[in-house]
Amino acid sequence: MSSFLSNEQLRNIATEFGTPVYVYNANRITEQFQQLKQAFNSDKVSFFYACKALTNISILKHIKSIGCKVDCSSINEAKLAIHAGFPSTDILYTSNGIAFDEIEEAVALGININIDSLSNLEKFGKKYGHSYPVGIRLRPNIMAGGNLKISTGHDSSKFGIPIEQLNDIVRIMQQYQIHIAGLHVHTGSEIKDVAVFMKVTDVFFELVPHFPELQFLDLGGGFKVPYQDGEEGTDIQLLAKVIFAFEQKIEQTYQLGFPVWFEPGKYLVS
Ligand SMILES: Cc1ncc(COP(=O)(O)O)c(C=O)c1O
Repeated sequence: MSSFLSNEQLRNIATEFGTPVYVYNANRITEQFQQLKQAFNSDKVSFFYACKALTNISILKHIKSIGCKVDCSSINEAKLAIHAGFPSTDILYTSNGIAFDEIEEAVALGININIDSLSNLEKFGKKYGHSYPVGIRLRPNIMAGGNLKISTGHDSSKFGIPIEQLNDIVRIMQQYQIHIAGLHVHTGSEIKDVAVFMKVTDVFFELVPHFPELQFLDLGGGFKVPYQDGEEGTDIQLLAKVIFAFEQKIEQTYQLGFPVWFEPGKYLVS
């Protein structure tokens, strides 16, 4: 089956089901995922579908069936992901400005968590100490994304712990012996320019020595798909090369290797 639905197919669907009707194309989602897998061609790179892009339960089940993991931005999305059958280890919860009890719920579910504020990091440390590995979402002060409303990494953004608070992060980590397992940055949506991701890897490169127990580096989502004729999407092949070079640099400099995580949303379903 072609990855696009023809007008005739759509007319047939409308006749059978009536309108309005939502039509999703599972083959197209699979193709988009395969494009990412083939470009990166590495077991060390994982993709977590940012399900805020579309939380339809059948889509979530399809995403799981093709071997993709899932990124959630609320505790209810995380519960939905469990309902769809994802194992807790394949669920990532990147929180934003939430009350601590949601983080407690996430811990009870056993899912991966990125914490985005110093206050929640401190509460986390007091309650869990070293017992539960956790990621931190950072605000790197990088302007990126299709427009200001979908730019989340710049120096006035509310998303993530500002990078200039690194000393506070490290102090809290040491005080409570928190196992900081991951660094997370999501600078925005509809990022065409691969150089943005290079800026993020530069930030990670500098941060690695501050976090002795790191287990993953999470570059968020934001891959752009062309919406109109003549528009260009993110060059995924180039991005894969950039990430490969980054991994080599980390290996040569620190003799370390980290799995790299991405959280594509719209790239898979729009
Ligand atoms: C933390 C996080 N990750 C991933 C995404 C997915 O972005 P996109 O759909 O542009 O890939 C978003 C979108 O806002 C996000 O906030």
